[in-house]
Amino acid sequence: MRTHTVPGIRSSKVRAGSDPLVMVTAYDAPGGRQAHAAGVDIILVGDSLAMAVLGYDDTLQVTTEDIAHHTAAVHRGLRSSTAEGPLPLLVADMPWMSYHTGTADAVRNAATLVRAGAQAVKLEGGGKRLPVVEAIVEAEIPVMGHIGLTPQSVHAMGGFRVQGRHHDAALALRDDAKALASAGCFAIVLEGVPDKVAEMVTEAVEVPTIGIGAGPATDGQVLVYHDVLGIEERVRPKFARRYAEIGEASVAALRAFAEDVRARRFPTDDESYHLSAEVAESLSLYGGSGSD
Ligand code: KIV
Repeated sequence: MRTHTVPGIRSSKVRAGSDPLVMVTAYDAPGGRQAHAAGVDIILVGDSLAMAVLGYDDTLQVTTEDIAHHTAAVHRGLRSSTAEGPLPLLVADMPWMSYHTGTADAVRNAATLVRAGAQAVKLEGGGKRLPVVEAIVEAEIPVMGHIGLTPQSVHAMGGFRVQGRHHDAALALRDDAKALASAGCFAIVLEGVPDKVAEMVTEAVEVPTIGIGAGPATDGQVLVYHDVLGIEERVRPKFARRYAEIGEASVAALRAFAEDVRARRFPTDDESYHLSAEVAESLSLYGGSGSD
């Protein structure tokens, strides 16, 4: 089956005439198949797994093994997808501490994610991550950068705060993006930065920028699956547009199931298996009306 490729994504600059890239997170096989059926370009198995799926308060709790486990599930989902259109590029997030202890550890952990099915990895940080980016790229594993609000630095940043609001910080973001692109990143996520800063960064680099909470001027947009679908009320970031209210619909469906069970409306005869009349009789049962 045709698939989106790293070189194809790398050359997708809006200023060169490309449509904006669409990236969404997914964490399991059905999510992967849905994203393919919806025609997205890139699936990210994000470390947002920690908060969106596993119930943690930040992203620091997930491990390489967690991300590999969910990457493999998304990969299996994509392999069995019957939807038309090219498969999305599958990118796996490198979690906190999987690339902070040296380049050899980083390459080994990136390889674990590739063996789980990822075609590329994403990691957070600018200038100080260049040796790690270069080492992973040198091992033939494509790397997506991620700068701005980097959730793995939540404690260092003093919370989940918009970055690059001031002159020097904005210029530092631009320098980080240029350095990441020079080090070999094929795309860069810009998270939680003012729209004008995202525009300046996007203009400064030859690789596509993919924004989240970064305004409309980036070369693509990414949202978390659970935010797009309105699965939970817990956190509702300003930038996350909801396209459905699946959380409410799920509660309503589960409530209806509970009510039907308690009122003995579920299951019906049609929803039950039956013995043949002969076997029912041999067991001294009544009501056998032909097997199915
Ligand atoms: O983990 C994640 O979902 C991400 C996106 C928000 C870019 O890093």
